[in-house]
Amino acid sequence: MTDQKKMNVPDGFSHQAFMSLDSTNKEAIRQLEAGAKSGLWITAGEQTGGRGRGGRVWVSEPGNLFSSLIYDCGKDIYTAAQLSFVSSLAVRETILEFLPDSDVKCKWPNDVLLEHKKISGILLESHSMGSDTTNHIIIGIGINVAHHPEITSYGSTHLNDHAKKCIMPDDVFYSLAQKMAFWIDIWQNNGFEDIRKKWLNCCKGLNEMITVRTSDQEVAGRFIDLDCDGALKLDTGTHIKLIHSGDVFFTS
Ligand code: BTN
Repeated sequence: MTDQKKMNVPDGFSHQAFMSLDSTNKEAIRQLEAGAKSGLWITAGEQTGGRGRGGRVWVSEPGNLFSSLIYDCGKDIYTAAQLSFVSSLAVRETILEFLPDSDVKCKWPNDVLLEHKKISGILLESHSMGSDTTNHIIIGIGINVAHHPEITSYGSTHLNDHAKKCIMPDDVFYSLAQKMAFWIDIWQNNGFEDIRKKWLNCCKGLNEMITVRTSDQEVAGRFIDLDCDGALKLDTGTHIKLIHSGDVFFTS
């Protein structure tokens, strides 16, 4: 990407780039404590303590994108959780910008799959400080650009494995920053319904049999919908179950 205009974050956002960090999400918390404002993107060339969902490690070798956005959305914590769907749509479109003819799908709750393999993970965290009741949201986004770890039970992949020419993490970041600004705007102006519909249009497994592993059980059923809060609706055959957190496994 050579267009100079694209090498900036959109108006209303700022960016700090680091060579190496423990975790961009942790740095975001430190920056918040030091007075950082909403709209700050933090990127790192590598992470020595990358964090994944469910307390897992996010392997963070140089060459991939590690980014976090501090975003005060002015909404309660449950509504703010919708930002993981907003972010998934932005990540999906970022990948499509580099690989326009590829199959890129969202996976509940907040993964993005390229050709059915995980290429990105999103970790939303909230942070509040002292007597200030504001819930500052940190949206951590990792995108595999140069390589991928062989650790997920459903496979993973990276952008350069599918691209004709070498893509750099910085290029991916500037595209992501644009798409995030776009989808955040839609969410703020139109609410979750537009996001929900778009997400359902490009997710994997809708109307198919899936298994969801939650913290205390494994449930199988047909994935029939996303409810107005972003919970997954599963038809188990005997009842409709709403699932708020967990890991999805596809049968096909
Ligand atoms: C997942 O488990 O799928 C979520 C992974 C999120 C990884 C990103 S990389 C940038 C940010 N910093 C972190 O430590 N984690 C997130």
